Amino acid sequence: MITNTELEYKGNLYPNQVVDYHTDSGKFYFTTDNGVVLEITVLRNSALRFRYATDYNFEPDFSYAIAPDATGGYNELRDEETESDYRIFTSRLQVLVDKKSLRVQISDLEGNIINEDELGFHWEENYAFGGNTVKMSKITQSSESFYGMGDKATHSNLKGRRVNNWVTDQYAFGKEQDPLYKAIPFYIGLHNNQAYGIFFDNSFCTHFDFSHERRNVTSFWADGGEMNYYFFYGPAISKVVQSYTDLTGTPELPPLWALGYHQSKWSYYPEKRVRELAKNFRKLQIPCDAIYLDIDYMDGFRCFTWDKKRFPNPKKMIGDLEKDGFKTVVMIDPGIKVDRNYWVYQEGLENDYFCKRADGPIMHGKVWPGPCSFPDYTNPEVREWWAGLYEDFIKDSGLHAVWNDMNEPAVMEVPTKTAPLDMRHDYDGNPCSHRKAHNIYGMQMVRATYEGVKKFVFPKRPFVITRAAYAGTQRYACTWTGDNVATWEHLWIANVQVQRMCMSGYSFVGSDIGGFAEQPNGELFARWVQLGIFHPFCRVHSSGDHGDQEPWSFDEEVTGIVRKFIELRYQLLPYLYTSFWKYVKEGVPMLKPLVYYDQEDTQTHFRTDEFIFGDQILVCPIQEPNAKGRRMYIPRGKWHNFWTGEIVEGGSEKWVVADIDKIPIFIREGAIIPKFPVQQYVGEKKLEQMELNVYYKLGQEQSTLYEDAQDGYDYKKGGYSIRNFRFSGKEKEVILQQFKDGSFITSYDTFKINLVGLPFRIKSVEIDNEKVPLKELRINGDNTIEISKNFSVLHISGT
Ligand code: GLC
Repeated sequence: MITNTELEYKGNLYPNQVVDYHTDSGKFYFTTDNGVVLEITVLRNSALRFRYATDYNFEPDFSYAIAPDATGGYNELRDEETESDYRIFTSRLQVLVDKKSLRVQISDLEGNIINEDELGFHWEENYAFGGNTVKMSKITQSSESFYGMGDKATHSNLKGRRVNNWVTDQYAFGKEQDPLYKAIPFYIGLHNNQAYGIFFDNSFCTHFDFSHERRNVTSFWADGGEMNYYFFYGPAISKVVQSYTDLTGTPELPPLWALGYHQSKWSYYPEKRVRELAKNFRKLQIPCDAIYLDIDYMDGFRCFTWDKKRFPNPKKMIGDLEKDGFKTVVMIDPGIKVDRNYWVYQEGLENDYFCKRADGPIMHGKVWPGPCSFPDYTNPEVREWWAGLYEDFIKDSGLHAVWNDMNEPAVMEVPTKTAPLDMRHDYDGNPCSHRKAHNIYGMQMVRATYEGVKKFVFPKRPFVITRAAYAGTQRYACTWTGDNVATWEHLWIANVQVQRMCMSGYSFVGSDIGGFAEQPNGELFARWVQLGIFHPFCRVHSSGDHGDQEPWSFDEEVTGIVRKFIELRYQLLPYLYTSFWKYVKEGVPMLKPLVYYDQEDTQTHFRTDEFIFGDQILVCPIQEPNAKGRRMYIPRGKWHNFWTGEIVEGGSEKWVVADIDKIPIFIREGAIIPKFPVQQYVGEKKLEQMELNVYYKLGQEQSTLYEDAQDGYDYKKGGYSIRNFRFSGKEKEVILQQFKDGSFITSYDTFKINLVGLPFRIKSVEIDNEKVPLKELRINGDNTIEISKNFSVLHISGT
């Protein structure tokens, strides 16, 4: 008898001789004798798409990852045929397609190879499920490095590693453990100072091998679906990341409070405890903008309900907290309790909204409330229903934001930790099994949540968090790295994961500061906060069963350090918000690993710890106990030590002092760093003055400050203020020019300008070509002056 396994294994199949070639408005089609069709689409001068069919037929072209407003358009396109190949030329790239094998080679216009197929496209038929395992192998170029791929908890450079994408609830995951919560099948290759990116847009389980199995081969494959990948050319990494982010999208600006400090635990209840928590923050003067309610606020873990014993009057509590400057964020999970008296379950049942098994019954899986059913968020009607559930939920309680968890979906007590593979999904009219929908399930859940929250908190901006994500989820939600552990190793992992996510188009990300499982000691907690304040999402969260993790849970020294660093985050909010705006507008990652910052410097290719926060602040966490400092690599250029004012020349490793109350921070010379005063929460104080810290440089540098109303949508109608500053420093002179755009009127009238590291004594100052007597300007010390926010040119001369 023939077994399934024997039938399954047919070995690899390959395309053969091209027998037909034609082109159609920016698309090129190559058909082989054995029925393989390659479709190449030119999206932009440096962005291409490759799709392969194996039986003359392409599947319907549908993807959840691609942003509806992705840009397209190129300015040059021609093709050519030679004896052995077809050639496509854009204004940046040339693509060769081999007539005998369909293998592809991509080079720049000088003929430098950027990326080339090894075996190229091949496939294996999958008898058990139908369809193919689709595969691609490429030649690894000499000294090639690899980056990206979402939340992988491994060295930032993926060379020599194999990783898989299958979103998974990995409680207390470890270093190198894979896969984790996210599936972002996008990587960046870098060799010979040329960077390119590949996004394999396939929602099945995908696998990537970066010279792990064979030293000179990079390959990627999927358990089903199409070989469908996008290619982005740099040569700068920044270009690659921006192109990918343009294709998969960016979020809208969050409300500014979402960038404040957030406090969470599993769980703060009852109401009395939540109120005490809030009171303590204000009493101890530790800034905080949001408090999270984990699953225990619900009535028996039923989503969209409240436990009225623990929270008798949510509206009153949330309202009182709001008066005190706190926003309330609550959790919603996908599992709906099987309970015939529960209206959400009833509605789901009546309308046929729950996922079903292959043979018809509704799927049941165990989560917090016991047996649950799972809405099929891949059905647009279900998404609309789900979004609508937030209407009364938000109106009745006044809550501000929603946190979606367990949306892999996580299922308890089964070895696979998730839904069965035969489970059916609508997939927006392309019915399929969970094999195809698994990786996008959480994304579609949070998409529906985002749409609901956005509608019902209007005219405020929505803030939504997700644990599971596929490429493109950044359009809808902020995310965190899941259930980590309170260890020093996890501090290292958090640092790598957040940088890696930023490189993968997903900047609004943070870790459970201090660790979710187990309890940190005061030192680890303090060191983690010092790192966490530089992450776009800054939240302390813990499982709660191992002890407390509030800023005051350790000793007074730790509380003091934590307060000081949270205050620093609040001071840096205008800088952070500006980098968020750049991310939204141009896809620029909010944190930049050193290789992104200076790819020409090969010393950066294997660095993991140091990163650039925004564009101009270099940070490096302390990752071990009892440290008085650490060795770190300072990238090329000159940097001002934030703490000591010392100017250091980069391009080498240095010992940097950082006792328990410091973390290494350097400011790029020429930078202008805006600062708010310390506030206990966003909007506590009317901003009377903006501080600009100007770090001297012999030479020029650009800086930007973006501001708006910090919430609402006026900014979309011109209600923003962009200030571009051009710094220019000479031996005894500094010129600062300001260029302004937008109609938003800031509440302050003046800048307090601190000139840091000035190598001369100020002799005279001219504002917009008029000399101003020094005594009118000096407000504090020699190098601080106060001037109108409307200046165009500030000219400082010295002796
Ligand atoms: C999951 C989440 C965690 C949450 C817990 C209870 O483990 O990752 O953040 O606290 O569920 O809801």
